[in-house]
Amino acid sequence: MAADTPHRNLIIEGDNFDSLRLLNTTHAGKIRVIYIDPPYNTGNKDWVYNDSYVGKNDRWRHSQWLEFLYQRLTLARDLLTPDGVIMVSINDENRARLELLMDEIFPGMRIGSLVWRTKDSTSRTESNLSEVHEHVLVYGREGFSFQGSSKSTKKYKNRDNDPRGPWNIDPLTVNADRFERAGFFYPLQNPKNGFWYPCDPDRVWAYASEKIIEDIARIRSGSMEHWIREEKIIFPNSEDERVVIWNTLEELKLAIKKGDVPVTPKRKKPLISEDTPNLEFWVGKPVGFGRPGFKKHWSDLNSYVNPLSSWISRANEQLDEDDIHILVSPNAGAGTEVIQEVFGSRVFSYPKPPALIKELLKQASKPQDIILDFFAGSGTTGQAVLELNADDKGQRSFILCSSTESNDKEPNKNICRDVCAERMRRVIQGYNQKPGYSSIQGGEFAYIQLEKMEVADLHFELDPKHSFQLLALRRFQVAMPVPEGSIKLLGRIDDCDFLICNEVNEYTVQEILNWTRNHAVSKLAIYCNRPESLQEQLSSNGVQANCYSLIDSLMFVQGADYDN
Ligand SMILES: C[S@@+](CC[C@H](N)C(=O)[O-])C[C@H]1O[C@@H](n2cnc3c(N)ncnc32)[C@H](O)[C@@H]1O
Repeated sequence: MAADTPHRNLIIEGDNFDSLRLLNTTHAGKIRVIYIDPPYNTGNKDWVYNDSYVGKNDRWRHSQWLEFLYQRLTLARDLLTPDGVIMVSINDENRARLELLMDEIFPGMRIGSLVWRTKDSTSRTESNLSEVHEHVLVYGREGFSFQGSSKSTKKYKNRDNDPRGPWNIDPLTVNADRFERAGFFYPLQNPKNGFWYPCDPDRVWAYASEKIIEDIARIRSGSMEHWIREEKIIFPNSEDERVVIWNTLEELKLAIKKGDVPVTPKRKKPLISEDTPNLEFWVGKPVGFGRPGFKKHWSDLNSYVNPLSSWISRANEQLDEDDIHILVSPNAGAGTEVIQEVFGSRVFSYPKPPALIKELLKQASKPQDIILDFFAGSGTTGQAVLELNADDKGQRSFILCSSTESNDKEPNKNICRDVCAERMRRVIQGYNQKPGYSSIQGGEFAYIQLEKMEVADLHFELDPKHSFQLLALRRFQVAMPVPEGSIKLLGRIDDCDFLICNEVNEYTVQEILNWTRNHAVSKLAIYCNRPESLQEQLSSNGVQANCYSLIDSLMFVQGADYDN
């Protein structure tokens, strides 16, 4: 980690209520993806409310948990960008409660829920139901969508040199029966060779016939005859196809009895039976045993993206990924295996597998996003962000908020420092023969400890270090080592330098006058203790600067410092 470079990745130690309040002053509207894995309220004392662990028999267990999450989720909501998303892991038992809470906090933002298979093995309960899944609830703002995946052109070929380009055969039937759609149930004839095709009574043709429906213009999808004229209906190749003529009704009935009639392609269900209306129609006609289809051209597709499936699959499952993108994740135990690899022991219980979070982030995030996890625990989300950036050369940054988990029995326990931050250090250095990450690849972070101050004491307790860090986060969303000197550079936007000057005096005014000359900028924005006086002195010396009250800028988030 280079000491003097800004840190875009942050690990914040403390109760996440305080961390989120800080982030509301520094990152409001700037975070595109939030992933959290909060305590599930299992009753196994997995979380603390009002300084004590909540157990199974606590009378207000569920209300307390909901209140605890409500406070944090409402703060988190304001951090999201206009196309931001929040994804929350939850077990089956508490999904409904959490979903109702999220509906209230994020009205109109529900995208859906993903189901993740956590285990293969059974853990039988008295009810003989083995719970092997968890949920990820997804709430996104209006501009959000998952990435999905590009549709494959693999199946689209141009076997007949069609000038409209490559095509694939789509089914020519729809999910409706002959009673629901009478005008769509009729024998179909190939006009080129006269062969006939029976209609499936349980899945009728996708297009009505002009011979049956008089007012065909009313049918927006177009008639079968229209699509035949357009050469969009593809009939089986006459050379390969089996074609039969039953000369008498008895011959036909015998064929029905033997099952020797056209059948549906997959389930092999006979398409002509004793119940077929007007059975005599099929006597004396050439009947094709193949199935006609719809010629769907690549250029016809409404979208070239496969949507994300709500089912998160396991690597050992057989996938049919033609029209949908399925995430693949290892089981829950893989999270512990990674912890074991990084630390040599199981220093944290029930971490999520980085591969799962990486898959979710790959779908939900863009390469420049800031990703927040305010129940970061062992820091899995941070590792997933680094791995994903390495895969797609992204520049995502992470903010991890983790508690110490210290209590009366273990006052020195510090999960945030000793597990979360230590894990990130080891991942950045490289572990178990895995390569590390350079700072250009995001292999760096700043560790922030929160210090609470009363507003009334701010004037006395705020030191230059605090001011500098807070303003750097607020203005540039980075944490930086505090530079030496009485004039400190926060950052640059275009040709304007943002400076902090704690004490306006003769010496510092002179330093600022020299600044524009020495640093090739034409404008200055300066936070200081006497803004009016400084502005006057600078302008009388011909230096263009906007000066702001340092204390006001720290206390009021929306203020002069944002108007530059
Ligand atoms: C289920 S674990 C998250 C595990 C994480 N996904 C991982 O893979 O390591 C929930 C974490 O939230 C932390 N936590 C609970 N209450 C918190 C609070 N008020 N502020 C910050 N963290 C808290 C717990 O200490 C625990 O580490």
